[in-house]
Amino acid sequence: MHDVKSGDVAIPALGFGTWQLEGDVAKHMTEAALQIGYRHIDTAQIYKNEREVGAAIAASKVARKDIFLTTKVWVDRFGKDDLQASVEESLERLGVDYVDLLLLHWPKASPALEETMEAMNDVQARGWTRAIGVSNFPSGQLKKAAALAATPLGTNQVEYHPYLSQKALLAATKDIGASLTAWSPLAQGKIVDDAVIGEIARAHGKTAGQVTLRWLVQQDGVVAIPRTQKESRARENFDIFDFELTADEMAKIHALANPNGRLGDWLDPAFKWDAA
Ligand SMILES: NC(=O)c1ccc[n+]([C@@H]2O[C@H](COP(=O)([O-])OP(=O)(O)OC[C@H]3O[C@@H](n4cnc5c(N)ncnc54)[C@H](OP(=O)(O)O)[C@@H]3O)[C@@H](O)[C@H]2O)c1
Repeated sequence: MHDVKSGDVAIPALGFGTWQLEGDVAKHMTEAALQIGYRHIDTAQIYKNEREVGAAIAASKVARKDIFLTTKVWVDRFGKDDLQASVEESLERLGVDYVDLLLLHWPKASPALEETMEAMNDVQARGWTRAIGVSNFPSGQLKKAAALAATPLGTNQVEYHPYLSQKALLAATKDIGASLTAWSPLAQGKIVDDAVIGEIARAHGKTAGQVTLRWLVQQDGVVAIPRTQKESRARENFDIFDFELTADEMAKIHALANPNGRLGDWLDPAFKWDAA
């Protein structure tokens, strides 16, 4: 597995996503992921599983310094004092002194980005996170956040899979020296029925999930964070570093993108997505 250089940090190209994993399942699957070899875990305040993710890290035999841990601040805590309190609460629940990457979960028109980024800079200066970054930021807001950040942004985490082109946003993200972290990298499981991906998978003796994840991490500056509640699939999704897709196969998967491919859209109406 390779790391993706992103701002001042290096992020393992494949992480374990934990959205919708709660309670015992969240703890069990995070522990299983660490056991399998994942060293990058993605959670968020809004996922209501930081306590279980933290318990899994504590129970694992993996040293804290060897894990790249990301959490996110939900949009209702973007005011200056509230953001700091929110991060303190996340650290307490996770049972760690710091996270590796702290993200603003979605862009928001109010409070002003200036105020929120000042709070993010402050939290980073306190040592509560190694890097700060954003999630679901279209390129205009991304550039603004990058200009307000005291250190280079650590990522822009956005929806990205074969059915949604992120060409323009990926270029804008590279321009500021950050990685693009792909959420819903498996299009929430929809890739299993895809004939094009299926054919490529058969040619490599791999599954549709593995080919899709390989397609993502084989792109310059892209990180992927698939989620599963099954140990066998966590293992399957991790097993993507022993084969390579050809340029033609990469292009065939890129060609699956379509204008209706977006699966999750909670963008503040004050902002607009980049054209594909
Ligand atoms: N920043 C944001 O706003 C945001 C938004 C959404 C997600 N995320 C992050 O991104 C992570 C991943 O996104 P996601 O959870 O939406 O979707 P995803 O990873 O694209 O898909 C998860 C779904 O695919 C299935 N699956 C997993 N591995 C598979 C495989 N190898 N073959 C076939 N199906 C497979 C899972 O089912 P089983 O569980 O039954 O295996 C689950 O239903 C999240 O967990 C979260 O950490 C961030």
